[in-house]
Amino acid sequence: MSFKIAIDGPAATGKSTTAKRLSRKLSFIYIDTGAMYRAMGLYFIENNISYEDEETINQVCDDIDIDIYYEDDEQHIKLNGRDVTKLIRTEEVSKYASVTSSYLKVREKLVALQRKLAEKNNVIMDGRDIGTVVLPNAELKVFLTATSEERARRRYEELLKKGQDVTLESVSHDLEERDHRDSTRANSPLRQADDAILIDTTNLSVDEVVEKIEELYNEKRGK
Ligand code: CDP
Repeated sequence: MSFKIAIDGPAATGKSTTAKRLSRKLSFIYIDTGAMYRAMGLYFIENNISYEDEETINQVCDDIDIDIYYEDDEQHIKLNGRDVTKLIRTEEVSKYASVTSSYLKVREKLVALQRKLAEKNNVIMDGRDIGTVVLPNAELKVFLTATSEERARRRYEELLKKGQDVTLESVSHDLEERDHRDSTRANSPLRQADDAILIDTTNLSVDEVVEKIEELYNEKRGK
C-alpha cells in the first residue's frame, strides 16, 4: 500500500524546499500543487484574462492542460505542452494563482489531477488543502508555520537571488494579502487539518524540519 505525506501551510514557510529534500531521502515522489495553480495563473496573464473575470476563467478551464514531469529529480511543470517551470515564480503569478485558486472550477480541475497523480505512488504533496481536501486519508499530515517577518525575509531573499526587482516591504505586503485571501476564501481555505502536526519553522533550518518529519514518518510506519 502506498504512503502519503501531506504538507500544508501559508506562503514561504519552507514547504516546497522541505518536501523536496524529504522526498529524496525517502524516495517518494514530490508533488508541488502550488506550481499547478501558478501555471493556470500564467495562462490567464498570457491570455489577458483579468483575475476577477471568473466567468471567462470558468469557460477557458477546459482549454488548459497542466502536466508535470521530472528531470534530474526536479519537478517541471507544463502548460499546454510548454515548460513554464521558471516563468511561474514571480509576484504577479503569485497574485493570479492566489485569486483564481478560489474559483471552484479551477480547484475541481487541479484537485482531480492531484488525486490521480497520488493514486498509486508514495507521495509527498504540498499546498494549502492537501490534508483537508485532496488527501484527507494521508497517513501523515504536517502543517508548517513561521512568523510573518521570517516568511517575508525568506521570500525576499529567494526573489533577490533570482534577480527580481523587489523590496522587503512589497514582498511582505503581498504575502500578507495572499495569506488573508487563502485562509478566508469559501472554497478549500488554508486550514490545519484536525489530525495534522504543527511545526513552527521560524527558528529551524530546513534540515531540522526534514528530520522532524522523517521522525514522524518512522513513528507512523512503525505502527
Ligand atoms: O510557494 P508559495 O507558498 O508562495 O505559494 P504556492 O504554494 O506556489 O501557491 C501559490 C498560490 O496557489 C497560493 O497562494 C494559493 O492561493 C494557491 N494554492 C492553493 O489554493 N491550493 C494549493 N493546494 C496550493 C496552492
